[in-house]
Amino acid sequence: MANALPGEADTTVFLDGAFLPLSQARVHPLDRGFIYGDAVYEVIPAYGGHYLRLDAHLARLEHSLAEVRIGNPYPRAQWNHLLTELLDRHGGGDASIYLQVSRGVAPRDHAFPDCPPTVFIMPRPLQPVSEKQVDGGLKAICREDIRWHWCQIKSTSLQGAVLLRQQALDLGADEVILHRDRWVTEGAATNVFAVISGSVVTPPPSHWLLQGITRDLVLELAAQVDLPVAERPLGLEELQGADEIWLSSSTKEVLAVTQLDATLVGNGRPGPAWRRVWNAYQAFKADLRAQ
Ligand code: PDD
Repeated sequence: MANALPGEADTTVFLDGAFLPLSQARVHPLDRGFIYGDAVYEVIPAYGGHYLRLDAHLARLEHSLAEVRIGNPYPRAQWNHLLTELLDRHGGGDASIYLQVSRGVAPRDHAFPDCPPTVFIMPRPLQPVSEKQVDGGLKAICREDIRWHWCQIKSTSLQGAVLLRQQALDLGADEVILHRDRWVTEGAATNVFAVISGSVVTPPPSHWLLQGITRDLVLELAAQVDLPVAERPLGLEELQGADEIWLSSSTKEVLAVTQLDATLVGNGRPGPAWRRVWNAYQAFKADLRAQ
């Protein structure tokens, strides 16, 4: 079996009730996460040993598990305990925790098996967002959203997102912004915002997109810095004519898009509204680290 990747071998992970080095962690090939992508996940950032909005991440995990009818293996207090322990073992610094729950190991058959779920949790150092991306912004392309219809579930079945993101990377872009019938949904692994006539617009929560924890924080921070916010359907043409476009996620925080397909967004530099929200986001992280 392949060894852990360089640099990560000594990371302590949690697998099926035990803490162990990543290099020793083994999952059965008949795990339904492997065979069917029959699993849900979370990515939770932590700054200076403090999780960002852990309760919101755990609430979303509970929601995903309920939607796909995988029994929740732990009560909320136990999740909290496990995640705190793993972060302590990981040591200080910023981290991002990947957590996955699959339906478990069983002979291959579409029908739900009667077996315990597989739980895997892995910490990684959280790479700071590069200065180039903060100051220069990102390039994005637009594509039809070809994923399934249950995007509110944080499912590990991500082949659609992987193929779409790769289309962006192959064209030298950073992210793909998706739309269904010319209504913007989200990015391959980000939520989308547009600044239109001074208002921050983002599509409302629905089964067409994942309700990002960062998205909700960005909306709160935008309101705090006195930007009007609107959760409403966002047309592709509106996006293409927006003064600013932003993307958010747990690992990318909030970044400006400065080029959409072949066209510059605004003057091709991250905009002033984005800068206010980005500053507020950095202050939010600093408060978290100081706790
Ligand atoms: N992805 N939409 C999709 C499809 C995502 O995969 C993600 C995050 C988001 C943003 O959610 P949040 O703000 O809670 O991170 C929106 C994670 C980071 C990933 O798959 O690595």
